[in-house]
Amino acid sequence: MDSRSIRETFLDFFVERGAQRYDSASLIPNDPSLLLTIAGMVPFKAYFMGDATPPATRAVSYQKCVRTNDIENVGHTTRHLSFFEMLGNFSFGDYFKRDAIRWAYELAVEKYQLDPERIWVTVYTDDDETAAIWLEETAIPAERIQRLGADDNYWWTHAAGPGGPNTEMYYDRGDAYGQAGGPAVNDERYLEFYNLVFMQHALDDDGTILGELPAKNVDTGLGLERMAVLLQDVDNVFETDLFRPLISAAETLSQVVYGQDSDRDVSLRVLAEHARTSAFLIADGVLPAKDGRGYVLRRLLRRALRHAQLLGVDVAEGTAVLVPMIDTVIATLSPLYPELADQQVLITRIVAAEERDFGARLRSGLTRIDTLVDSLKPGEQLSGEAAFELHDTYGFPIDLTLEIAADQGLAVDRDRFVVLMEEQRDRARKSVKRGGAGVGVEVYRDALALTGATTFVGYEELASEATIGALVATGGVLNEASEGDEVEVLMPRTPFYAEGGGQVGDQGIIETETGRLEVLDTQLALDGVTTHRARVVAGEVRQGQGAYATVDGTLRAATARSHSATHLLHATIKELLGPHAQQAGSLVSPGRFRFDFPHFAPVSGEELAHIEAVVNARVLADPYVTTQVMSLADAKDAGAVANFGDKYGEVVRVVTIGDYSKELCGGTHAPRGATIGTIAVVKEESIGSNTRRIEALTGEDALTFFGKERIVAQDVARLLDVPTDETVDRVTNLIKRLRDAEKQLATLREAGLAKQAETLAKTAVQHDGLALVKHRQDGLSADELRSLALSIRSHLADPAVVIVGTFTNDAKAMLVTAVTPSIVDGGVTARDILADAASCVGGGAGGKGDVAQAGGRDGTKLDEALTVAVNAAHTLITRA
Ligand code: SER
Repeated sequence: MDSRSIRETFLDFFVERGAQRYDSASLIPNDPSLLLTIAGMVPFKAYFMGDATPPATRAVSYQKCVRTNDIENVGHTTRHLSFFEMLGNFSFGDYFKRDAIRWAYELAVEKYQLDPERIWVTVYTDDDETAAIWLEETAIPAERIQRLGADDNYWWTHAAGPGGPNTEMYYDRGDAYGQAGGPAVNDERYLEFYNLVFMQHALDDDGTILGELPAKNVDTGLGLERMAVLLQDVDNVFETDLFRPLISAAETLSQVVYGQDSDRDVSLRVLAEHARTSAFLIADGVLPAKDGRGYVLRRLLRRALRHAQLLGVDVAEGTAVLVPMIDTVIATLSPLYPELADQQVLITRIVAAEERDFGARLRSGLTRIDTLVDSLKPGEQLSGEAAFELHDTYGFPIDLTLEIAADQGLAVDRDRFVVLMEEQRDRARKSVKRGGAGVGVEVYRDALALTGATTFVGYEELASEATIGALVATGGVLNEASEGDEVEVLMPRTPFYAEGGGQVGDQGIIETETGRLEVLDTQLALDGVTTHRARVVAGEVRQGQGAYATVDGTLRAATARSHSATHLLHATIKELLGPHAQQAGSLVSPGRFRFDFPHFAPVSGEELAHIEAVVNARVLADPYVTTQVMSLADAKDAGAVANFGDKYGEVVRVVTIGDYSKELCGGTHAPRGATIGTIAVVKEESIGSNTRRIEALTGEDALTFFGKERIVAQDVARLLDVPTDETVDRVTNLIKRLRDAEKQLATLREAGLAKQAETLAKTAVQHDGLALVKHRQDGLSADELRSLALSIRSHLADPAVVIVGTFTNDAKAMLVTAVTPSIVDGGVTARDILADAASCVGGGAGGKGDVAQAGGRDGTKLDEALTVAVNAAHTLITRA
């Protein structure tokens, strides 16, 4: 059975059993507690937690997943992968253990036709109920049911969220794969293929069970790649239809044949596997970066390149291997994953840039590692500091350093490395200001019990009747709050927009009969629950009171303009710069917005002006802005753009701006294009490798900006005494004349100094056969002072010393000393002569043998310093 049929068989099986079918969500989860989508359940987390209501209680999905906790195993075993597809069936408070087990068995034996005699299962230590169901519902005998502890048979996300005991299905691949005895003793021979988790607990981020979930749920995962191993009767995941072409490509590129040498096989697999994962990450909008998910990607790319180097591809010398590898990944896998073909340009260019960059780093890093290793005494390990330097300066991920060290039979002080990394992270963290009132999720859950989920009425109205559903503060739920108190207000119904989709939260006023609140910000407390961060500005407010909520309409209108302008800019940028330039992030606020997108070069001034002009022409065309609610499938058919990382429910809102733009969006918009007024692009910058940010103003803010620019232009024109449109020519001309004049002046001064040098050389004082010139001349530049010293020296016979000093235009002291060759030969350098003089003016000395300079803040000590230098010259040279 090929991979596609394995996927379709699974989906059909559960759709027949009443499940709603979901396509894979992005690898970037819409969940700040997780870096990447690590399992099929991630998009459904809120349903398990009871924070949101699912459209159907049964679901089935295929889901792209990335896990890097086992990355060191990838390539070495037959089953570990950093990217895999998980097929899953889910129950949100619907069916539980009995159906989940019955169906899993039926699917395995009847649909996938696995041999029931070879299926084994594991069950959580004391979960007798599950063990009994296996016996009652399936043909698996007690001897093939094993009990394992929490490490194997309790599943959670390793972040705050849901979890529960699980039961796993394994397939016995036979004696050729090693020792018998079931999965408890041998998990290579017995290959795990299906995990059924009975989600029933809420856990803290350290794994403490906080309590029961509102319902008993099922979360399952069947690995597509592993099922392919079993159904295609191959040894390991790398020989399935998903991987065979990738391994062949790696063979061709490296000229190494697979299956001849175990180390080389590892490298071929790592190259193929990491290329695949990287392509998927980039297609979903992850870009290489120094931290976060961008670092996961960078590590994968670098590990792949390192293994290519091990295979004999000279990555350090710039041989391209990942780019051609990626081409094969896209060609092979885009029938199953069309996003790869859609983002081919982006993927290839990002990979090419990383490949070039890492080639150069590898070159210098490998030299550095050799030096570090050479300096070790026998038996010493590579220090944590060395590993940190390789990481920080050369970009070597720690596993790369470990591998290179291991190749040379060396250990690495990894603990010290971890400490140094932690320290660096702490420093970074300290530099980030922390905000937020710090109301805990638990408090919001308590409040939710009082108010229920929030209905947002702010698309239609800016002011509405409301109820103070709950008042919360850091300590918990309150009954009332009075003047001066900072509280958060939850209301069953609100016109306030909670920050989301890049758009900032609304501000405004909430009034009750007894008091008045000023809303400073509106946020989502939980999925579907809005919280109003507010201050009581008059009287008092009580939980349960009727209220009237009014959004600040001026701010809202200014934000709406920015939001519609962002959509127009997005569409225009994609048209003008290419389809890769998809929104990677945005911040939409009143009158101002910024827009981030991947691009491979700075956007030139000319391109920016063109983009701005096209957007403004579209604003002037005054298109209608319309919104429609439809199913995700219809939205996609209509060509609506979904953004990287967004996860949408089944019903989505589509915002259309004339013929120009159609995007999935929950934000608030201007009613028509012309309401935007105008946009002004004010800034374009890099915010990380291959990511650009454009900042722009809209409406009044744009007009104010243009107005200020005009005043500046007029002032400049007046000063130059030309019409404004001639200012640029005039300034260009003036700059050129200034440069010429400066050059002339420099030549004149140099000639003057050279002449002076001749005269000064004649003032040399002879003492014990040594000629010494001391001279002070104020207002010289460092270069002038130096050339004065050299030219005086050129007129003197060896042995001679020249000491010159200047009081600079910014009141500092500078000194230069030049000595003739015999003095250096005698063991005295120019710098020795200046050492004490430098401290005298409060600075330091630098320079090599025959010329040195010193400088310091204490300009008034210049004369003293010159004398100190003269004395030093006599003392040192006489002694030598
Ligand atoms: N969440 C479980 C896993 O990842 C089952 O899907 O194994």
